[in-house]
Amino acid sequence: MTTTLAFDIYGTLIDTDGVTDALELLVAERAGEFSRRWREKQLEYSFRRGLMHDYQEFAVCVRQALDFVCLSPGFNLSDPEKQSLMDSYRTLPAFPDVKTGLDDVKQAGFRSYAFSNGSAAAVGGLLEHAGIDDYFIDVVSVDEIKTFKPDPAVYLHFLERAGARPQDAWLISGNPFDVVGALSVGMRAAWVQRSNGTVFDPWELQPTVTITTLTELAGAIK
Ligand code: LAC
Repeated sequence: MTTTLAFDIYGTLIDTDGVTDALELLVAERAGEFSRRWREKQLEYSFRRGLMHDYQEFAVCVRQALDFVCLSPGFNLSDPEKQSLMDSYRTLPAFPDVKTGLDDVKQAGFRSYAFSNGSAAAVGGLLEHAGIDDYFIDVVSVDEIKTFKPDPAVYLHFLERAGARPQDAWLISGNPFDVVGALSVGMRAAWVQRSNGTVFDPWELQPTVTITTLTELAGAIK
């Protein structure tokens, strides 16, 4: 059976630190810290909403996380400033290795899907803006079943939508919690270690392969 690939979006294909330039104008040298805290809070809110069965679109988690970070001293932004940051989230850039990596995967004959916490509209817009939408058969969003990664239900939903068996499907993700989620339903998973300092959770499930750039992906998958 042809191997199916589920590409995570935020933090894997699309660089959430792409807001740093816009943030530098607002919070100067604390832009990196702001971006990191904003991203961590988004994920925390998605985990909590999943656990509480209180689903809202991922964009709501992103906006509420931004509001939360702005409550900290020194990070007090105006509503128009916050809105402009939310707008930049819709046009975040792809990481520089993405096009080449997707080209290689296409040449190798794999079936590629985008698979994200983001809504299909948000993800479709990002892929189009980055000029990489044509590489994907479809966008599978958790919004279709109203819960978030790493609920096992979202990985099972992906397999159903893609018509794939877990042993023939790989998650490709820079997010360790996502990799563990896919492995836990029997999928295989490539962890994209996007920076040297990032470590993988010391759980009983470890990535099938670890790569540092997407250009290694096609060669790493069997
Ligand atoms: C996504 C989150 C995990 O794109 O970043 O699904």
